[in-house]
Amino acid sequence: MPGIRGPSEYSQEPPRHPALRINAKEPFNAEPPRSALVSSYVTPVDFFYKRNHGPIPIVDDIERYCVSITGLIDHPKQLFMKDVWNLPKYTVTATLQCAGNRRTAMSKTKTVKGVGWDVAALGNAVWGGAKLADVLELVGIPKLTSATPSGGKHVEFVSIDKCKEENGGPYKASIPLSQATNPLADVLLAYEMNGETLNRDHGYPLRVVVPGIIGARSVKWLDSINIIAEECQGFFMQKDYKMFPPSVNWENINWSTRKPQMDFPVQCAICSLEDSNIVKPGKITIKGYAVSGGGRGIERVDVSIDGGKTWLEASRFQKAGIPYDADDDSSSDKWAWVFFEVITEVPQNAEIVAKAVDIAANVQPENVENIWNLRGILNTSWHRVHVRVGHSNM
Ligand code: MTE
Repeated sequence: MPGIRGPSEYSQEPPRHPALRINAKEPFNAEPPRSALVSSYVTPVDFFYKRNHGPIPIVDDIERYCVSITGLIDHPKQLFMKDVWNLPKYTVTATLQCAGNRRTAMSKTKTVKGVGWDVAALGNAVWGGAKLADVLELVGIPKLTSATPSGGKHVEFVSIDKCKEENGGPYKASIPLSQATNPLADVLLAYEMNGETLNRDHGYPLRVVVPGIIGARSVKWLDSINIIAEECQGFFMQKDYKMFPPSVNWENINWSTRKPQMDFPVQCAICSLEDSNIVKPGKITIKGYAVSGGGRGIERVDVSIDGGKTWLEASRFQKAGIPYDADDDSSSDKWAWVFFEVITEVPQNAEIVAKAVDIAANVQPENVENIWNLRGILNTSWHRVHVRVGHSNM
C-alpha cells in the first residue's frame, strides 16, 4: 500500500538509550548491561534487547495500516487496527530470548557465524494485544484447529521490513496452526509493551509474540498473515536458526536435515557479576535469571563458588512478595523468567557457576564445546564468571 509505510533507511533509526551495548549498528543489534537486566523483573522498554535483520520501518498512517489474512482459508480479510482493538485485550508477561544469546562465549570454542551477544539478548515484558486465536476466528478458523478444510497447517507471519538475507524481501516466520489457535498458548498480536504503545524498535504498530519459543518467530511490523500447508520457506526458518551437531561445518551442511528451532531449552546466567570483577572481602550477591521454553517453570537453580565441585541451591523469585511456584500458573508467570539469588562469601580466586533445572528435569549442559554449532545458537552451557577478592572496584 504505497504511501502509508515503508522500510526506512538506517539514517531514520529511532533514538536509543546510550547505556545499551551495541553489537552491530546496521542492522541495529544491542543489549543492556548485565546488571541492568536483573534490576527489574519487567525489563524497561529502553533496556529491552533489540534484534533486527534490516532497517526499522516507519508506519505513519495508523488508520490505513492493515494486515491481510490470506491463504488456505475461505474468507480472506484485511485486518485494520480498529478490528484488533475491538477484540478482547489480553496481557501476557513473557520473556523473549534470541537464539543467539551468549553466542560470544560459544565463539571462543571455535568461530561461529552471527552477531556476538553477551548474556543479555533477552528481556521480560508485559505484552498487551489480541490473541491470535481470536483473530483467526474472524477468518473462520475455530479454536484448537490443526488443519483448515483446504489443508492449511501453518500460520506464516510476513513483515514490512526488508532484509538482505531474503534478497531484499521481507522477514518472515511461521508457527503451527494448532499452536496459533490454542488460546492457552497465549500467542498475541501485540500493540502494547509494558502498558505503552509498542515503539518502532519493537514492532510498531503490531507484532507477533509467541511465548516459550525462540524470539526469531515473534515477527515485528506485521504486514500479512498467510495460512499455508507447509512451514514458512523463508531464510530465517530454513537457512538459519536451526541447531546442528558439532560435526557440521560450512562444507558439509545440509540445511534440509533439520527442523527450524522453535522451543527454547533451559537457560540461566549470572548478571550481578562480570568476569573482570574484584569483589570486597565478605558476602557477595550472586544474582541472575533462569528461563525455559514451552512454559516450563524453573524447578531449581544451582550455584557453585568452586567451579562446580560443590553446589548451593539459590532462592528463586518473580514478583516481590509472591512466592515463586514452578507448577502454579495462577501465582507465577508461566512464560516469564525467574530471578535467582545466593548471598555468600567466595574464595580468593573464585569460579562462580550457575545451572538451572526446569520442571521437566531438563538441565543445562556443562560444557559449551559439546553443544558448539556453526551458527552459534542456543548456548545454554553452565554460566561461569571468574572474580577475585581484593580491594576493589566494586
Ligand atoms: N521481526 C522482523 N520483522 N524483523 C526482524 O529482524 N528479528 C527477530 C524477531 N522478529 C526480527 C523480527 C528476532 S531474531 C528476535 S530475537 C526478536 O524479533 C527480537 O525482538 P526485539 O527486537 O523486540 O527484542
